[in-house]
Amino acid sequence: MKKEFLDLGQQPIANNFLTPDQFDGEYFFNLKVGFDEDTCLVSLLDFVDKSMLFNENYVYQSSGSQTMRKHFSDAAKLIPKGSRVLEIGSNDGVFLKHFDTKQAIAIEPCSNFAAITGDLGYKTYAEFWDTDMAEVIVSEDGEQDYVFSANCFCHIPTLDEAFQAIHKVLKDGGIFIFEDPSLGKMIERTSYDQIYDEHAHIFSVTALKKALARNGLTLTKVEPLSVHGGSNRIYACKNPSGEIDRSVHEHLIEEDQAGLNKMETYEKFAKRIRASKISLVHILKENKNNGRGYKTISYGATSKSTTVFNYCGIGPDLIEYITDTTPDKQGKYSPGMHIPVVPYEGNFDETVDYAFLGAWNFIDEIKKKEHDFLMRGGRFITHVPIVRIIGG
Ligand code: TYD
Repeated sequence: MKKEFLDLGQQPIANNFLTPDQFDGEYFFNLKVGFDEDTCLVSLLDFVDKSMLFNENYVYQSSGSQTMRKHFSDAAKLIPKGSRVLEIGSNDGVFLKHFDTKQAIAIEPCSNFAAITGDLGYKTYAEFWDTDMAEVIVSEDGEQDYVFSANCFCHIPTLDEAFQAIHKVLKDGGIFIFEDPSLGKMIERTSYDQIYDEHAHIFSVTALKKALARNGLTLTKVEPLSVHGGSNRIYACKNPSGEIDRSVHEHLIEEDQAGLNKMETYEKFAKRIRASKISLVHILKENKNNGRGYKTISYGATSKSTTVFNYCGIGPDLIEYITDTTPDKQGKYSPGMHIPVVPYEGNFDETVDYAFLGAWNFIDEIKKKEHDFLMRGGRFITHVPIVRIIGG
């Protein structure tokens, strides 16, 4: 049984950047989070219907940053040459395109993206992942040596069925490699903006070990990653013949010490989030009202910032606009708070004094790129791991 520990209030669809004619009918839901003491899963209390989140209008592009392009090019090297690989949630093909079209197939429910990898020559099923799909793939394409999936399994409310489907599609000894944001890192950094409609769960290694085992898969290795504000890459095997890597035991011990198995930890986390909101709003109001005419914008129109802006009540009065490099987000407005999203080019200019890091997870890439901004006295604002101003 999930027990609620956090209420982030009324929230819109996090990636639904919209036009003014869509403001009136905008969908909102109550974003609440709970912890289940039996399964150790941290999940949303209410899941948003999957077809509202993942459809032909999906805008998030995995290849939108240098960091992620390099990340997926490195990840592709994990799959031995000649082995058959299925990618689940292939987005714009940032991982897939490192393989021969005969070696790799994909499944992607957002048909706009499925069409892109289809055009590149990869067989792409524009479907959601479940046991029926696993059966289709086994009969049409055969059992797979590897399955890879990044930032996708945490999107699936029916996690047990999704793991059963992996069990069906893998050959004996086959390996499932998947990566998702880390619950431990989210708690450590108070990065509560990892919580939004798409993230049905935020995984601990402890919860994953149990869920995989319930569905016939063995957790064999854990690799911490820096992407997406701190993630874990999980290796699971169907009937493994080798040994379990020591990283599994190490992560379980670490999570036990961090209290990830106790409700109390989540209640403290919720308390820190309430304090974070007060500090962030204070800085933004100070910028606005101190009479110095500061211009404050946001950098990166992320799903994460949808949670922050709606939870903290931050709108265009405090953040003039959001710059983003994704063409499909530009010219639209942020979900819920309706802050204009504008192209990065021509808008991240010398008139900007402060930029809230909506894409704080790319802080190293952004600081490098915006060296001149910092040199001329520009400042970044972030709420991770605590609310603070960067620069100066
Ligand atoms: P990400 O942090 O992966 O978003 P989400 O919270 O939705 O998972 O997305 C980063 C967004 O920021 C994406 O829309 C591209 C944009 N971006 C920029 O505009 N400039 C940049 O320099 C970087 C790194 C990202």
